[in-house]
Amino acid sequence: MSSVTGWSALVDDRGDDDEPAVLVGRVPEHVLERQRGLHDVLAEDVLELDRLGRRRDVLRGQLGEDRVLVEDVVQLAFEPPELVVGEAEPGEVRDVLDVGARQGGHVAMIPTMSVPAIRPSPTIRRMTPADVEATADAYLRDHWGDRRVNLSFVASHPEMRPFVADADGVVVGTGVLCVNGPVAWIGTVWVDPGWRRRGIATALTQATIEAADDAGCRTLVLVSTREGRPLYERFGFEVETAYIILQAPGLAGPPVAGVRAVQTTDLDAMVALDAAATGEERAHLLRAFATPDSGRVYERPDGSLGGFVVRAPWGGGATIAPRIEDALAILRARRVAAGTDGKVSAGLLADNLAGLEGLAAEGWTESWRAPRLIRGEPLAWDPAAIWGQFNFAIG
Ligand SMILES: CC(C)(COP(=O)(O)OP(=O)(O)OC[C@H]1O[C@@H](n2cnc3c(N)ncnc32)[C@H](O)[C@@H]1OP(=O)(O)O)[C@@H](O)C(=O)NCCC(=O)NCCS
Repeated sequence: MSSVTGWSALVDDRGDDDEPAVLVGRVPEHVLERQRGLHDVLAEDVLELDRLGRRRDVLRGQLGEDRVLVEDVVQLAFEPPELVVGEAEPGEVRDVLDVGARQGGHVAMIPTMSVPAIRPSPTIRRMTPADVEATADAYLRDHWGDRRVNLSFVASHPEMRPFVADADGVVVGTGVLCVNGPVAWIGTVWVDPGWRRRGIATALTQATIEAADDAGCRTLVLVSTREGRPLYERFGFEVETAYIILQAPGLAGPPVAGVRAVQTTDLDAMVALDAAATGEERAHLLRAFATPDSGRVYERPDGSLGGFVVRAPWGGGATIAPRIEDALAILRARRVAAGTDGKVSAGLLADNLAGLEGLAAEGWTESWRAPRLIRGEPLAWDPAAIWGQFNFAIG
């Protein structure tokens, strides 16, 4: 039951006002004036509830510190007039008829009196770098992981369109779009647990979809949690396939032949391999993240590029290789680099049966899976060439 302080907050708000308070019942006239101006809960409505004996809960403190359950006032405002009349004592008919006749302040209250009038309705706006710290802290409070590094990137990278739900300066929700040419990813849709089931995620998702439309995207994709799936299905997303995340322990052994650090001269070939595998334009991500430290390529004996892995600053690792043997070489190299104390993850599409078998034969085991949803034009892509993701809303 949400109890909202009625008078105490308003009475305390008098500040340094020296004017003597004129009381209506126990409510100072200037407080009533202010409430009328704000279209807020009218003290008169509460007094009326008192006259009707309908107020369910009054906590009395010191003089001028009454509190009231706002639900009671809402209930009064939405009560059919006949019903209220039926319950009134004869002596109170005039007051009750005031309610029915929409006098005494009730006209304004019916359209404006809703929970957001008490708890501000969030505004959907673009996330800026100034939002990063508070948003990352909010995720941590909800045990949604430490996403500070990812949020810093998201809030400043030109192909990202991040949104927040802002309730009076407090971030209570997020939704992020990543524009990969004609394809866009939606992700990081999160709402503070205290603000859920009010349509905030729906509004955030709508904002990302509109941003995708504005950017000329024809296909939207996302990976959904169980909680998020009904939301996206209401927007017309359909399950296309699933990501299967596998893990394997690190290995001892010599470096894997053919696997070497990324060089700037590899980038064009990497971008071409990536586009054929994903059906997306991710050059902006590869150029942002690929360094000799963060990226490895597999160079075949004939000198051609068999595949690559590029790690994002927050972890994850986009891994692309059209041939299974090249992918296995890259993933084996990652296990060797992790050492016997380490652990490595890979993410395959459920369609990649040969890849899943190949990894199982090398000791990889499934860790979790999640559906991939799509909306819009189908993609020309090669799911069997995908072995790992950047994660966090960017594929
Ligand atoms: C999934 C999540 C984002 C949904 O956020 P939300 O703001 O509660 O979502 P919405 O309010 O828009 O919709 C949720 C439900 O509330 C309902 N709803 C919306 N407005 C409502 C209102 N005013 N009163 C009552 N119900 C309402 C919706 O119809 C929907 O119903 P459903 O259970 O049938 O799907 C939120 O639960 C969350 O942050 N979960 C953890 C992170 C996560 O899993 N994110 C998804 C990543 S893919």
